[in-house]
Amino acid sequence: MSSSTASTHSAESARGFVAGDPNDPARRTWITVASCAGAAGAAAVAVPFVSTFTPSEKAKAAGAPVEVDIDGMKPGELRRVEWRGKPVWIVRRTPEMLESLKKTEGQVADPGSARKDYPTPDYAKNQYRSIKPEYFVAVGICSHLGCSPGEKFQPGPQASLPDDWAGGFLCPCHGSTFDLAGRVYKNKPAPDNLEVPPHMYLTETRLLIGDDRKA
Ligand code: FES
Repeated sequence: MSSSTASTHSAESARGFVAGDPNDPARRTWITVASCAGAAGAAAVAVPFVSTFTPSEKAKAAGAPVEVDIDGMKPGELRRVEWRGKPVWIVRRTPEMLESLKKTEGQVADPGSARKDYPTPDYAKNQYRSIKPEYFVAVGICSHLGCSPGEKFQPGPQASLPDDWAGGFLCPCHGSTFDLAGRVYKNKPAPDNLEVPPHMYLTETRLLIGDDRKA
């Protein structure tokens, strides 16, 4: 199933917020970095759409959570949605991917998610950085200068990565690498882990991105 399954408070509404959010410098950087062409394209599309909103509608779209159907995700699959104009990833991790986090524990800069640049919700301050180990939810924006890292799930030697690569994410801009819990490796330009957005499970197969308060 595609990212179009993100519903309601639709991806289009969230996309519209990119162009109109002056209080989010990291995200502005994200849309201006040349290597993140997809993001910039999304922002460009958003302008005529959001211009039809009234001010109150814009404000509502700015904070709107996004509901995502994760039913049918395959092990190892990454699904992308947009929330507040940001790319949000949902990764269904395999047992092998989860096992890799034990190996990377000693190689990452902040294994306990104690750093504050991108505060991690308490429910994700664990080795998996998630509510349920199987599903990882993260904002796909590098904490260095805002590029969007690419998924490099295949372990082992490959271009631009160490021979003992355990699988994770590589930021193409300045080479920061992240493990499969979005934890930045030591001695990389990125100062913090990938952001875990507020989120919660509405049911076993429906996630709400952008809100973690029970009604
Ligand atoms: S923006 Fe990711 S390493 Fe610089």
